[in-house]
Amino acid sequence: MRVLKALVLVIFSLFLFLPALWAQSQTQSPPQEKPKEPDEEGIPITNPLVVEKCSSCHKKDEKGRLTRISYERLTPEGWQMAIKRMVRLNGLNITPEEARAIVKYLSNFHGLAPEEAKPAMYQAEHRMIDENVPDESVRTACIICHSYGRIISQRRTREEWELLINMHVGYFPVVEFQGFRRFPPPPDAPPPPPGTDTRHPADRAVEFLAKTLPLQSPEWSAWRANLRAPKMAGRWLVTGYQIGRGRIYGEVSIEPAAVEDEFTTKIKLHYVKDGTVVTRTGRSIVYTGYSWRGRSFSDKGRQAGSNNNDVMTNSDPGELREVMFISRDWLQMEGRWFWGDYEEFGIDVTLRRIGADPIVLGLDRLSIKAPATGEQLRIFGSNFPSDLKVEDFDFGPGITVKRIINAGNENILVEVDVAEGAVLGKRDIAVRHSFASGAITVYDKVDYIKVSPDKALARLGGVKFPKGYQQFEALAYNRGPDNKPQTADDLNLGPIDVEWSVEEFPSTYNDDDKEFVGTLSRTGLFTPAIEGPNPKRKFERNNYGEIWVIATYKSPGATRDGAKDSRPFTARSYLVVTIPLYVKWDQPEVAR
Ligand code: HEC
Ligand code: HEC
Repeated sequence: MRVLKALVLVIFSLFLFLPALWAQSQTQSPPQEKPKEPDEEGIPITNPLVVEKCSSCHKKDEKGRLTRISYERLTPEGWQMAIKRMVRLNGLNITPEEARAIVKYLSNFHGLAPEEAKPAMYQAEHRMIDENVPDESVRTACIICHSYGRIISQRRTREEWELLINMHVGYFPVVEFQGFRRFPPPPDAPPPPPGTDTRHPADRAVEFLAKTLPLQSPEWSAWRANLRAPKMAGRWLVTGYQIGRGRIYGEVSIEPAAVEDEFTTKIKLHYVKDGTVVTRTGRSIVYTGYSWRGRSFSDKGRQAGSNNNDVMTNSDPGELREVMFISRDWLQMEGRWFWGDYEEFGIDVTLRRIGADPIVLGLDRLSIKAPATGEQLRIFGSNFPSDLKVEDFDFGPGITVKRIINAGNENILVEVDVAEGAVLGKRDIAVRHSFASGAITVYDKVDYIKVSPDKALARLGGVKFPKGYQQFEALAYNRGPDNKPQTADDLNLGPIDVEWSVEEFPSTYNDDDKEFVGTLSRTGLFTPAIEGPNPKRKFERNNYGEIWVIATYKSPGATRDGAKDSRPFTARSYLVVTIPLYVKWDQPEVAR
């Protein structure tokens, strides 16, 4: 047994050692043997701490470049991940403060240009999306284990893409079987037809990556010349949307902290649907001139300890993380604020700087039915003048603002009429010269409903691993100008209240998933059951399974196809309830 253990250790350390050998052989090769192409010019490192902590293994050359490190550009999360591996597997000794300073320096000076980072934002924002992977070999060789987002958050020289592949093989030999499939053809195999691409998937992937995600790019050179700490201090207006809780308006006041790219925040959020107002305080770091990474705490959460995430009600989380993208003119930020053990809860936010001019953010609802009389609408924004008259409001033809019920600096309640035959569709609204585009949709009737998200994932947990929740909501739709439902021009009328239920998804005969996977609340929040084998279940299997989540909308006025058919509307979403995530690749430290 002992011998076996030792053997395993030796084999394992070989794998650990191999990449180090590669790293070394790279540094030992004399420059004339490997002429650097102009586009492979590495980025010199001028930070003494990086040189001190990293150059024992990553050799420094006469131009101040460190092997590996100078030939990559990564997001803050990318640098954090690489440094964690240096500590975990490669023997780097570093304090958390040093790591923070190094992540900041490398993210700033070996980072992504805003144009490069934008398409990869969803990775840092922890959004669950269907990724668009443009290259087939990348899909088969890489995306089986992790997201494409992780890859497009990086830029490297060709050699660095190759070394990355070697790192995978060195540390995770199973990759050869799972994705890279670098096997020789069987000896008796017939020769492939002429013109067949016989390269292995991983080699083809490198080809694509080296071409599309190179170290040097015009975007990066342009941004590098512009790079500076943005001046974020001031007051900002927030518009947000949270699945299940609807619209949120609020204000963030940002103050400078001790260092020029760090800030503290005071946040006030107003949930339109139920009138809740919450206050929070936070702090943040801005990397690379545009990457906001922050954390905020509810006043309630701060008292009770930072991890008091009130996920059961999906509201007012103790601690949440902020990932936002700052516009080039420092006037706007957008991104996601998220919480939950799988970052499954979140608010999509847009922040706009408050200046001297009035700002119209939007209304307390997303749609209004035509015709209508005496409907009240609340307009949210900032700096509204005190002398507004009904003529100052413009909601487009067919909507008349009849009177101002009350008007404040930040919100105004008005009464409107919508004429019979008002043109259906999404409308911009204006208050004097201030404008909010697409703020309200005029419709005549609800034609159908949808459940969002339309396919979803929850994770069993609660014993050794946390639960992964899933919030659903139902959205009402109008058929749109073409008069046909389920087409691209259909109008989203916003969330509606529905009754929730679940049904069996018939994939395995007689497995009664819906009895075991978890429960769906009256507000559409799915809470998964606990993980681990369940003795009450056939074959003692885990509580995993697949179900339909069903929304039923019974509206007194709603009729189908304008006819007498007044059966309720239903819609459904496909939910997979699976096992916990045993290894998490998350880099929350970048917001500290
Ligand atoms: C004790 C040796 C050692 C130290 C110190 C060290 N590294 Fe490494 N580094 C390695 C080895 C070995 C590899 C190749 C295997 C790998 O990628 O993990 C590597 C690879 C890398 C890579 C390439 C990873 C990739 O994804 O291709 C980066 C980036 C990196 N190191 C960054 C750093 C930084 C930044 C520091 C200093 C804070 C540092 N390293 C300090 C040993 C070290
Ligand atoms: C067998 C599963 C698997 C496959 C297939 C796979 N990866 Fe990875 N990848 C990982 C794991 C695990 C890590 C985390 C390494 C660590 O930090 O310990 C990782 C890390 C990475 C990173 C971050 C590297 C860093 O420096 O921290 C990048 C970029 C990446 N992979 C790209 C790719 C590409 C490109 C491919 C396809 C050619 C690929 N991966 C295929 C499992 C996989």
